[in-house]
Parts: sequence; C-alpha cells; structure tokens
Amino acid sequence: MLRENFGTDGRGNEAVVFTITNANGTQLKVTTLGAAIVSFIFRDKDGIMRDIVLGYDKAETYLLQKGYYFGATVGRYANRISNARIAINGVEYALEANSETNNLHSGSNGVSHKVWDVDRVDEEKNSVTMKIASGDLEQGFPGNMQIEVTFTLTEDDAVQIDYKAVSDKDTVANFTNHSYFNLAGHDGGYVGSQKLKIYADAFTPLAPALSIPTGEIRPVEGTPFDFTDFKEIGKEINDNCDQLVYAKGYDHNFVLHNGGKLGLMAEAVCEDTGIHLYAYTDRPGVQLYTGNFIEDHEGKNGAHYGERHGFCLEAQWFPDAVNNPAFEAPFLAAGEVYTSVTVYRLERV
Ligand code: BGC
Repeated sequence: MLRENFGTDGRGNEAVVFTITNANGTQLKVTTLGAAIVSFIFRDKDGIMRDIVLGYDKAETYLLQKGYYFGATVGRYANRISNARIAINGVEYALEANSETNNLHSGSNGVSHKVWDVDRVDEEKNSVTMKIASGDLEQGFPGNMQIEVTFTLTEDDAVQIDYKAVSDKDTVANFTNHSYFNLAGHDGGYVGSQKLKIYADAFTPLAPALSIPTGEIRPVEGTPFDFTDFKEIGKEINDNCDQLVYAKGYDHNFVLHNGGKLGLMAEAVCEDTGIHLYAYTDRPGVQLYTGNFIEDHEGKNGAHYGERHGFCLEAQWFPDAVNNPAFEAPFLAAGEVYTSVTVYRLERV
C-alpha cells in the first residue's frame, strides 16, 4: 500500500493519501483529510481504467471547495437538522446554521474537513482505519466522541466502509459517505443517461422551502421518484413536479426496508462503460443527490465538473429525524457503540 503526502489543512496538519490496489488492478485512494475517498479506479468493458468518483488532487482544494463534501465522511450528523437545533434529554443544543436556517452535514468545519489520524493499516486485508476525537460540544454536539472509519478494498472490487463511534454523553450519531459517482468516469459530464435503481417504494417529500422533510412517507409509484426498475437518472429530472423544483433535481431521502441489516440500497449502470455499481447499507434511508448545486470548476487532473456531473447515494437516518416525531431518530446513549456499514461494489456488464 502506497502512502503519500496529500498537502495540509492550513492549520499545520499534514494529510496523507493511501493507494490500495487489489489483484484485479482495481484501485482505491483514501485521504486522512475528511476520511475521504479520493478516487476509485476500475477497468471498463473496453479495458480502459476509469476513475468513477469526483475529487481533487490535494487537500487544499478540498478545503477551498468545502461545500461539496466530495467523497468525505460526513458527521457527526449527516444531512439537514432544521433550525440548527437539537434537544437531548430536554436540553437544547445550538448547532451552526450553515445552510440557511438549517444545519447541514454538521456545519462548515465538521470531521469532513479535519485531518484524521491513521490508526491501523492492514496490508493483508487491504484496509486502512482512521480515527478522530470530536470534543464535547464540538460543532455543538454533546459528548466527547471517538470516531473510527475503516476503508477496505475487497477482492470483489468493493470499497467497504465501516463506521464506529462512541460518546461519553448521550448524543446523536449519523455518519455517511458523500462520494459523487459518475460511472462514465469522473470527467464524464452529465450523469443523466446513467441508469439507476433504488430499493425503495417510498420517499420523504420536502417542505416547499429549506429542504426539510415534512414527515410524510409518500409512495414513489406514479412519480418521478419511482426508481424501482432501472431508469435513466435524467428521464424525469426536469419534470415540472414541485418536489423536483424545490431541490433543483433529486435531493431526497428514500425509505429502505433492510431491517437494520446490510442490504442493497441501489444499483446504477453506465451502458457506455459497462460499469455497474451495487450499493449496500444497513441504515434506514438513502439520500439521492444528483449534484444539482455543483458549479463549473476544475477537479482532479484538470477535469471539468459542473451541475449534475455526479450522483450521491448517501446511506443515512432520515433527514432531520432528531426533530421530526414521524421518524425514528438516531440517538446514541453514553457508552453505546455506534456501528454501521456501507459497501459500494463494482462489476462490468
Ligand atoms: C445535500 C445537498 C447539498 C450537498 C452538498 C447533499 O447531501 O443533500 O442539498 O447541496 O450535500 O453539500
């Protein structure tokens, strides 16, 4: 496993990047800045090696483009929290309002933008474990929390992401990975022609403003949110449907039925490259975000990135679950160990 310098966080902390390669030549790069996936390279049907996630060449660029969370581990609480407030055991905690009046992805300086420590490297298993200590009331969340993320590149061409966290006070925990996939290659442009299937027969619609779910669980049948069979991502993305207008495309949580066990959440395929993604989680929801807010800018190796050039499948608890009595909330008791697994596996068709 190759370990190289990846730049700094501007506060004197050096980030490193690990390159992990399996026997098939599939290659994963992960950095300690934000415990992020930097690249995921897979041989396409014509033998061309394609990097299928968006990212940057060095830590400094990730910090300049903070708002996108490319490939990052997002926490301690992924997605939106309304009014940037949570209550635990009757005590209110104020969080940073970094997305209008909401807290988004735990604020502008969460663990997704910090340099993590390297805990273990396992050459045999092709895995790297990173850890970070998040202090009591850091970003507003109660409890000193120890967080650990392990990235494993398997021999069946999957990246497996294992999360573990424990806090010394009652708190909340909801970690996700924020990779943007483009199965034509990270420089492949608009993902509209790539096909997607989501293992969900319902989604959680948003209120007209601020992107907070209302609490309703709405069947996808007969709506542009029906991905129960493979459908082009772009097929209905511009439909004049209020939910799509609110979010400028897909930026919604889908309701999974895995019963808390690792199961398929989604599949996606690009016919031009023959790359097929299988995504698994043990969480109750997945946010489909179609990169609606990516502005034109330069990514890895001079690639051009823009609106809808990638899609995210963020495994999670439902957005704002901590404030919405209709949803089960991810409270974590003091001393309780939070664990979760996400897998993104690639095949050629
Ligand atoms: C959110 C989007 C947000 C994006 C980048 C996604 O998880 O759902 O609304 O723009 O992250 O911050």
